[in-house]
Amino acid sequence: MNNRFAHWQKVYEKTEQEFSWYQSYPETSVKLIQESRVCLSDPIIDIGGGDSHLVDALLALGYSNLSVLDISARAIERAKERLGELSQKIKWIVSDVLAFKPAEKFAVWHDRATFHFLVEEANVVEYRENVATAIRHEGKFILGAFSINGPSKCSGLPVLQYSESKMIETFGHDFQKEKCFEEEHQTPFNTQQLFQFCLFSKT
Ligand SMILES: C[S@@+](CC[C@H](N)C(=O)[O-])C[C@H]1O[C@@H](n2cnc3c(N)ncnc32)[C@H](O)[C@@H]1O
Repeated sequence: MNNRFAHWQKVYEKTEQEFSWYQSYPETSVKLIQESRVCLSDPIIDIGGGDSHLVDALLALGYSNLSVLDISARAIERAKERLGELSQKIKWIVSDVLAFKPAEKFAVWHDRATFHFLVEEANVVEYRENVATAIRHEGKFILGAFSINGPSKCSGLPVLQYSESKMIETFGHDFQKEKCFEEEHQTPFNTQQLFQFCLFSKT
């Protein structure tokens, strides 16, 4: 087990409301997926989904082809437990996103607060290649990362902060910007974290 796996396995010993990134309803992500105008049966993946409630919300809206990938087996187990029988409707993948080479192409690749942990240039390049390969033509890439005015660390790890222009510079070779905006996230401890979101379309 490498350090990244061990770190995130340990993190998920806490309860969900002890996580700064916790959202009872991930409104922005849901809205961006709806704005992607994909069919309810199109394949959607949540990268580093952890035990996020995003899949609960998408199932309730009728999306039926959902995958969640996370490096932490414990996070996935927790999400499955929360969903009960509904969890059988989801494809669960325990993997480092950098090792993920899917056979299928996704209509939507959603990543909130996972990509920004890749602080080494070589890892950013690997991620960029993976996301460009895994999304189908005209598919959507939704990315939320800490803003340049947001935190510089999360969960004890350094992150790379992103502005709109840095996201476009990083992914613009394969994706066209549809919209980008900053958003203030209220943590469960009543503090704020500034996120940068972009919705991209595969060119
Ligand atoms: C800050 S949490 C965000 C969780 C979720 N996306 C949300 O918004 O609630 C980051 C998540 O990314 C996962 N993660 C971190 N590095 C990863 C990697 N290299 N590959 C896959 N998952 C990773 C962690 O286990 C954790 O669940």
